[in-house]
Amino acid sequence: MAEVRLSLLSGVLAALLSSAVLALVEDLDDTFKDTRVNDIWLVDFYAPWCGYCKKLEPIWHDVGAELKTSGSPVRVGKMDATAYSGMASEFGVHGYPTIKLLKGELAYNYKGPRTKDDIVEFANRVSGPAVRALPSKQMFEHMMKRHDVLFIYVGGESPLKEKYNDVASELIVYTYFFSASEEAMPESLALPELPTVVVFKDGGHFTYDEYEDGSLSSWVNKERFQGYLQIDGFTLYELGDTGKLVAIAVIDEKDPTEESGRLKAMIQKVSKDHREQFNRDFQFGHMDGNDYINSLIMGEVSVPSVIILNTSNEQYFMPTGPVQTEEHLVQFISSVLNGSAQAYGGDGFTQRLKRVFFDARSTIMSVFRSSPLLGCFLFGLPLGVISLMCYGICTADTDDSSDDMDALKREGLTDEEAEEEEERRRTAALEGPEEEEEEEEEEEEDEEDEDEEEEDYEEKDPEVKKMD
Ligand SMILES: *[C@@H]1O[C@H](CO)[C@@H](O)[C@H](O)[C@H]1NC(C)=O
Ligand SMILES: *[C@@H]1O[C@H](CO)[C@@H](O)[C@H](O)[C@H]1NC(C)=O
Repeated sequence: MAEVRLSLLSGVLAALLSSAVLALVEDLDDTFKDTRVNDIWLVDFYAPWCGYCKKLEPIWHDVGAELKTSGSPVRVGKMDATAYSGMASEFGVHGYPTIKLLKGELAYNYKGPRTKDDIVEFANRVSGPAVRALPSKQMFEHMMKRHDVLFIYVGGESPLKEKYNDVASELIVYTYFFSASEEAMPESLALPELPTVVVFKDGGHFTYDEYEDGSLSSWVNKERFQGYLQIDGFTLYELGDTGKLVAIAVIDEKDPTEESGRLKAMIQKVSKDHREQFNRDFQFGHMDGNDYINSLIMGEVSVPSVIILNTSNEQYFMPTGPVQTEEHLVQFISSVLNGSAQAYGGDGFTQRLKRVFFDARSTIMSVFRSSPLLGCFLFGLPLGVISLMCYGICTADTDDSSDDMDALKREGLTDEEAEEEEERRRTAALEGPEEEEEEEEEEEEDEEDEDEEEEDYEEKDPEVKKMD
């Protein structure tokens, strides 16, 4: 009796809980197209079979809870994109999971790390006004403390302001945009002329110059990172959008000889002192350890050392000898800039071929490293069986033929592995960490039909735009 009551109770509890869950994250179907219009929605388009989608599920629930408790107007939903594929393709969903914020006729893609905080921040940023007003000096000071990179339009109504609004409504996926009157800015700030767009970062401020910097949108895109960054695989992938070359000090943070620290300080100083000369074309930073870079260039870079990557064509540049002085470093960077430095790598046919074998080898090696037994089983067992069969067949007249077959089969296997990996790895290597592979690949393939498919929604995805 007690058991029955208990199970009843837990049933009711579960029902209560699940209804609470539903309220936080709403399950969407094809009525969504009509019911969504008056609200801002953050939607996870998922596929039931996709592993990354499953990983996102608890995070998505937390996102729903957080936005609800903070009183955000954003409603959180999820849609099985395989069950409502027509709907999904109308929203331009090509990979899973795809996270989009839908605001009126605009759809914004989320491409950041899939953590609760990052997603909530994105939702808050993009759901708000594209350009936020800074009414006072106090507010300006406050925002300066909160943001490493701060874009502000200073001045009254103007064509530049209209342009700024347009750029903001597109690039709000990356960063915040503010506007202020001259009075709300500190007196010490000597702005050349108004109206103007200023970015505050790296302990200073830099103004947009249409003549020097080209379009406002490309300037914002290039200036939205701090001049010097700690770089990891994901940052590198994000930096790809800026079209800049990336100059990286590959160092060991725990290097006891301080050689790493010296190089890091040197590249940091060059990024600051030679901003005028290099900022338009280079992003600077350091990376801890050489694993990531090694797999990128399919080779081995020494630690510490400097490498410059061209993420658009997968080429890289290395100084001819160890970088001893600041002058040497500046010379190296200049030589990349004026095209006299030797470029390595690239995305040509032989490089792609090399990538196939490189990835196959590292896949096999990583299987053996993480689990030698499994490795033996996966690669050894088939070889063993095949050898035995060969032995059985050939045993009558020859001894060494089985060895030959063995070697052949090993190569065959490598190829198979390689093909499987090729599609994913090739594009992913320079573009992003493993997590992104699945999604990115599919997006790339489908980018061309993006325009036809989205009749009703203007796609606010700078990456897609740029590539079109
Ligand atoms: C980087 O790659 C792009 C795309 O291929 C190319 O246009 C550009 O010239 C390259 N930059 C350098 C310095 O090689
Ligand atoms: C390119 O820059 C390097 C380093 O500043 C310089 O030594 C070299 O002469 C330059 N080459 C050309 C073709 O301008």
